[in-house]
Amino acid sequence: MKRRDFMKRVLGSGVLMATSSLPALAEDDPSVFPKRGRYERLSLNYATIHIGLKEPFSVLHISDTHLTAAYPHEGSKKQTLHKSRTVTFGGRQEEALRDSLDWARKYVDYVVHTGDLIDWQSEANFDLVRKYFGNQIFGALGNHEYSPDMWLSDPKEQHVEAYKDLSRDTLAQVYPFDLSFHSQVIHGVNFIAIDDVYCTVTPEQVKRFHEEVKRGLPIILCMHVPFYTDDLWRASRRFWSSKEGERFRSARVDHNSSYKIQQEDPVTRDFINYLKQEPLLKGILCGHEHITVQDRFSPTAIQYSVAGNFQFHGQEILFV
Ligand SMILES: [Fe+2]
Repeated sequence: MKRRDFMKRVLGSGVLMATSSLPALAEDDPSVFPKRGRYERLSLNYATIHIGLKEPFSVLHISDTHLTAAYPHEGSKKQTLHKSRTVTFGGRQEEALRDSLDWARKYVDYVVHTGDLIDWQSEANFDLVRKYFGNQIFGALGNHEYSPDMWLSDPKEQHVEAYKDLSRDTLAQVYPFDLSFHSQVIHGVNFIAIDDVYCTVTPEQVKRFHEEVKRGLPIILCMHVPFYTDDLWRASRRFWSSKEGERFRSARVDHNSSYKIQQEDPVTRDFINYLKQEPLLKGILCGHEHITVQDRFSPTAIQYSVAGNFQFHGQEILFV
């Protein structure tokens, strides 16, 4: 190649820029931006649920923080998980939770967490839950709360109620509410949290839900795993697809997904069908998929799935 052509390629293409020619940028002056880094990492979505309240209020909804702490004395399984899962979730989960709760204290009235606050059970993770929530936590557990040691667990995780029984006593020490079903009325709105971490609900949960309906109050259902909707599934496939290129196609609707059990299990199927025509249901708050998606569930309720708090995501919901 002639030198002139070579130089033309280096200097004339306009594609690559030598880093040595980048301009020097001035460093931040902390006196100009004293709050830099405090909240700017938070990414909040905003939604409004119209109920017709006399007294509006707001809630910060977060989910899927996936704390991955372990004390040095906690044994080799916990140390292995601490190393690998902290890498998976980026290592900033506690900062994300702290930023979110600090924001909530200042700008909203209540906080709801819809599960996978911890990635697996450890003394260090439980201590973080107590540190940040005390006994004021309201919300739902996720599938990860029920996992002693993820893939290293013995016995292996099974998606049945009996598997949860192995952890109920341990979790009850940390999460001071009925893990399966609990409710709290705030300004006339009945927040009901249920455990649906393996996609199904139990006859007992359904019975208790019907008892709550008798109170005649508007209901916000809080749970970890969303109810299947076509557009949630499309968004989920685009986010989670491991196949190169599939993210950029319109995701097909796959009724053979892990959500299929919601239609195969008669108790869950009937509960979902009933909820779709229950006028007191005003909204559903959930997580698990690590993406923020809003999709209509019923004539009176939108399902709000929020992205992972480990990514500094959350959503502020105003109830009016
Ligand atoms: Fe989950």
